[in-house]
Amino acid sequence: MNAPRKLHIKSYGCQMNVYDAQRMVDTLARENFVETDNAADADLVILNTCHIREKASEKVYSELGRLREAKEDAAGAGRDMKIVVAGCVAQAEGAEIVRRAPVVDVVVGPQSYHHLPDLLRRAARDGRAIETEFPLQDKFTSLAPPQPAAIRARGITSFVTVQEGCDKFCTFCVVPYTRGAEVSRPVAKIVDDVRRLADNGVREITLIGQNVNAFHGEGPDGKPWPLGKLLHHIAAIQGIARLRYTTSHPCDVDDSLIAAHRDLPALMPYLHLPVQSGSDRILGGMNRKHTVADYHRVIDRFRAVRADMAFSSDFIVGFPGETDQDFAATLALVAQIGYASAYSFKYSPRPGTPAADMQGMIDAATMDQRLAQLQQLIDSQQSAFNAGCIGKTLDVLFEQAGRRAGQLVGRSAYLQPVHVMASPDIVGQVLPVTLTGLERYSFFGDLPAEHAPVAASHRDHASLTATTGA
Ligand code: 5AD
Ligand code: SF4
Repeated sequence: MNAPRKLHIKSYGCQMNVYDAQRMVDTLARENFVETDNAADADLVILNTCHIREKASEKVYSELGRLREAKEDAAGAGRDMKIVVAGCVAQAEGAEIVRRAPVVDVVVGPQSYHHLPDLLRRAARDGRAIETEFPLQDKFTSLAPPQPAAIRARGITSFVTVQEGCDKFCTFCVVPYTRGAEVSRPVAKIVDDVRRLADNGVREITLIGQNVNAFHGEGPDGKPWPLGKLLHHIAAIQGIARLRYTTSHPCDVDDSLIAAHRDLPALMPYLHLPVQSGSDRILGGMNRKHTVADYHRVIDRFRAVRADMAFSSDFIVGFPGETDQDFAATLALVAQIGYASAYSFKYSPRPGTPAADMQGMIDAATMDQRLAQLQQLIDSQQSAFNAGCIGKTLDVLFEQAGRRAGQLVGRSAYLQPVHVMASPDIVGQVLPVTLTGLERYSFFGDLPAEHAPVAASHRDHASLTATTGA
């Protein structure tokens, strides 16, 4: 067998890109590619791109500039380096990428990356290959499943795609164009994926989709299952300690989802529920299909079934036509809800979306000022939420060694990183931790006595016997 070829993959943007990148690695593993951290050393470099805002998109072209030099250096050393642009910029800009950056060998959209091995062969033969179709065939059936060793190397938390694409057509958003129409995977396929992950040590699953709670995949009974029913089913899989899902739309919260939060201890009481704006006028212009009052009602439904529920959100400031009054309404909404964290962005016109042609663009200075004001409010809410956790005992799922010797780090239900001194065998366990300190966004805490670190004299003794026994 030939020596393995080296693959370097860099992902931008959302969690689905992280997931897609792993599936590309799994699929190319069948072609004898192994991952490397070093792009300069690679035979194949894949940029898995994001098109959501202009800044994200432009990063691709600056990275391609750097890669051109790496490719020339490789050629100088007699090595052929292939460069692939995948993801949503590939989908949106297609052949334009090759015109702007002739260094690119393959352009492949997010619905066709299962054809990567073929596209690489085509590029080797023809000099270049571009595929940005939305094939009818389900890409998941042709993607290689991850090998047990790859699952273990990736740790105890994992994403699983359950739904892709979006039919909501918010007027600012490229997703319905780059990811395509909304499609849900069948329940049986998702369950197979979760079982494989759980069998190889994964304890926490985050179900992902562009509009994940629009999920309506075919169940084993032949009927479409809502997300809440899927969550009930997956919670019963041996080894799964925690479940999350993202990203949700307020209009698609149904009774099954509320029931899942009420009934499933494994389902974490932390929800990312973007609202984008606190002004009904702007929500209308955004085609969000809900009002501020609707959003409050949805939040209240979650809180009614789980008192410990916390929320995060996305906001856009400076949407076309946004007045001081509209922006004040956003601040008022944030103040009323009280978020554990939130993301906020300046509106970025995206070619081909309806909002890009709207009147009333907001000037840069106003955008900057609104963003700073909103972020300050969100930061203060996050700080208050975190400060309120000090002294509490929260369940923590331990993920890996911390930066300091003897330290382990895990996450609370609210995704807060929590550090404790403990033995490494607690990785993968959910344990109660009393939170004692907070540094920026990281907590320190104490485990119950039985899990406290082994005393130094014991440790020395243990390592001595281990060495002599070998
Ligand atoms: N400009 C600014 N922010 C945007 N988002 C989506 N499209 C745009 C845009 N054109 C934000 C939304 C979305 C998040 C993923 O990115 O807040 O929820
Ligand atoms: Fe984009 Fe989300 Fe709106 Fe769909 S629901 S169009 S993904 S912002």
